[in-house]
Amino acid sequence: MLYPGASHFSTMASSQPIGVFDSGYGGLTILKEMVSRLPQYDYLYLGDNARAPYGTRSFETVYEYTLQCVKWFFEAGCPLVVLACNTASAKALRTIQQNDLPGIAPANRVLGVIRPTTEVIGKYTRTGKVGILATQGTVQSDSYPIEIAKFFPAIRVFQQACPMWVPLVENNEHDKPGADYFVRESMDLLLAQSKEIDAILLACTHYPLLTPKITPLLPAGCRLISQGGIVASSLADYLQRHPEIESRCSKRGQLRFFTTDSTEDFDNHASIFYGQALHSAHSALS
Ligand code: DGL
Repeated sequence: MLYPGASHFSTMASSQPIGVFDSGYGGLTILKEMVSRLPQYDYLYLGDNARAPYGTRSFETVYEYTLQCVKWFFEAGCPLVVLACNTASAKALRTIQQNDLPGIAPANRVLGVIRPTTEVIGKYTRTGKVGILATQGTVQSDSYPIEIAKFFPAIRVFQQACPMWVPLVENNEHDKPGADYFVRESMDLLLAQSKEIDAILLACTHYPLLTPKITPLLPAGCRLISQGGIVASSLADYLQRHPEIESRCSKRGQLRFFTTDSTEDFDNHASIFYGQALHSAHSALS
């Protein structure tokens, strides 16, 4: 299968990068930590900016879009793809792993961000009351309460959807005074659910950019958790435990960025998430 933009891969003919996917820019907050922790690998990032946000879309749509992007990564030679997007991890990952992978690329792997986070969430709370801030889609899927219960059955999970947060971040309004209202509104709704919440997870990869607005609203002793470092550590552990995948990942320290929308917009905006200037190429999806 050929797709527009395939020529961009010609220079990576023998490259087998780790694929990192998000609906837009948010996954860059995860990629940044992966590169810092595991700089030896090649990485290929795809932001489906043309169709972001995913957070308000149906299960069927998020699954369909995510599967299309996963196939794109496989075409580009990635043996391993990380869905650095909670919404895609919540709504599409399991079906892709169980139903699609065996038919399209049985030797390849697709991982998400929810499992690595829920595995370690217990060490962040003393009260056993954890708050989850996420997109509507992630909250509706109940993935966090279900997964946390598997590892920490005693933890109580309080969820709050923040439908305005991704648009604020995608439109570069996250550090403007207008964002204050929506950040406070969602924080108030979460904290009204329990006075004992002592750990709040940013369960959307876009949200770390709102940290400066969230931190002053945290109750005393309440920790704010971002996923980047957690997912990067989990990836390091996964690669150590799976030499059959690790040995297929190329190691030249190369980074490539693709977007399904305007490269100019991507390059201007992505640096805010990634912390340094970057240059993307465009790829339409077949
Ligand atoms: N960054 C994605 C996540 O972690 C969601 C963004 C979106 O709504 O597209 O959930």
